[in-house]
Amino acid sequence: MADSPLDPAELQRAGLRLDVDGAVATISLARPERRNALTFSTWHTLARIGETLPGTVRVVVVRGDGPSFSAGIDLRLFSPEGVPGEDTSGPRDEAFIAGLQAGYLWLRRPDIVSIAAVRGHAIGGGFQLALACDLRVVADDVKFAMKEPALGIVPDLTGTKPLVDIVGVPRALELCLTTRTVFAEEAARLGLAELVVPAAELDSAVADLVAAILQVRPETAAATKRLIRQAPHNTLEEQAAAERREQVPLLGGPAAAPAAS
Ligand code: CAA
Repeated sequence: MADSPLDPAELQRAGLRLDVDGAVATISLARPERRNALTFSTWHTLARIGETLPGTVRVVVVRGDGPSFSAGIDLRLFSPEGVPGEDTSGPRDEAFIAGLQAGYLWLRRPDIVSIAAVRGHAIGGGFQLALACDLRVVADDVKFAMKEPALGIVPDLTGTKPLVDIVGVPRALELCLTTRTVFAEEAARLGLAELVVPAAELDSAVADLVAAILQVRPETAAATKRLIRQAPHNTLEEQAAAERREQVPLLGGPAAAPAAS
């Protein structure tokens, strides 16, 4: 595997590992002794990974070391002691939250397909990280839970939009306000997982999915993602027009005109 384009010390401080191997980047949450709890550094460094991702990368896999994908925010950030190396003194304003959200937002970029490989717990910010990815492949021991409201806060790491898009308003509200756990069978039924596999087969199932995606040429994959992502917000006529705009350049025709807004 090629070296990460980021400073290894920065990644380590953030509890992350990044392996770039040609067209595939694998981001590992790498603090299994804390169930991959997330800190402000984790979110800031995830944003840096997005900014510095080599142009060769077409698929990003997000996974966790150890038995859990992620136990969400490092709860010590809410305590007076905090987390060593983490600055907890700044204002908790919207700009601060936007800086954290940047860690997840880039995973929707059309030039990549992002896949969360989830085993065990994906709680709070961990659940939202899985939701930030385009696709979720989960082990049969998966446990999703949106715990934020139990801590007196809302899910604010870009997770409410994909959650509603996937499960609908009533179910999203129920999941958030009960903070209950969603296990594998229900996750598959609700559409929170594209694929559920035995835990021992998670890595190979993800590798198969990555290989299938890489069969599609890059410009076609990017055009398809742009098209599919806008479909829920478009009328049939708008979507038909978007299909034409994306197709013409793929057929070797003139470059697409800018979309009318
Ligand atoms: N923050 C800090 N440390 C954590 C942690 C967290 N979120 N989750 C686990 N750990 C630590 C534990 O304290 C424990 O440390 P010690 O070995 O030093 O005691 C170690 O990780 C292993 O944890 P467990 O023994 O509890 O492991 P488990 O496998 O039995 O249980 C778990 C795993 C169900 C995830 C459980 O650890 C747990 O419930 N963790 C807290 C989950 C939580 O409420 N997270 C906050 C979600 S809200 C959010 O994320 C908000 C946001 O984004 C802004």
